[in-house]
Amino acid sequence: MGFVGLGLTVLLAAVVALCSAGSDAPRGVAVGFVFDPKARCEPACEHGGICIRNNTCFCSKGYEGETCQYANCNPKCKNGGMCLRPGKCRCRPGFGGRYCHKVTCDGGCWNGGECIPVNGVAKCICPSSWTGSKCQEAICPQGCGNGGVCVAPGICSCPLGWLGGACHTAVCTQSCLNGGKCISPDKCRCRPPFSGPRCEERKKSN
Ligand SMILES: *[C@@H]1O[C@H](CO)[C@@H](O)[C@H](O)[C@H]1NC(C)=O
Repeated sequence: MGFVGLGLTVLLAAVVALCSAGSDAPRGVAVGFVFDPKARCEPACEHGGICIRNNTCFCSKGYEGETCQYANCNPKCKNGGMCLRPGKCRCRPGFGGRYCHKVTCDGGCWNGGECIPVNGVAKCICPSSWTGSKCQEAICPQGCGNGGVCVAPGICSCPLGWLGGACHTAVCTQSCLNGGKCISPDKCRCRPPFSGPRCEERKKSN
């Protein structure tokens, strides 16, 4: 005979049998045709299941399987979660809630990002101007040059000495003279025949 796990139907039959057997009936499993007090179940019934016939376990509520080895969760665990014990799911990373029905992104999604399962993994889907695992990094489409940092969509924070939307404009605290051009912080490129830090000197021609 195969190894069989019995469920609710047998429970009802057993309870009826117990009640009608009278007060001097042995307690527990030794009732009528359903329970065999000498029954052996090998391997043993798990999770409080009772061996009622040879190799037949009667499982307690919330368990099933030949030896009552499986917990069953109702509703079932979602998103690949595992039923640990009745009503208790162990969720895969990224999922939460009693039945693993909620997706949770570790640390949350910032700046309007949305946590969505992608191939079974929780991911932040970011609005177009943000990126990064939590949508924490702004995107500056123009780029931030010369060591500038993108601090908000399209906005660079420029290091000292640089200005402009992409930090490409050098700042010369004293302006370059005679048509000279500020090419990096406090550095002028002079037009001939001028020279000097501010292009203030005219080279003497012989
Ligand atoms: C149950 O198994 C034992 C041996 O393991 C055997 O002696 C017994 O007769 C069996 N009972 C029934 C009802 O088959």
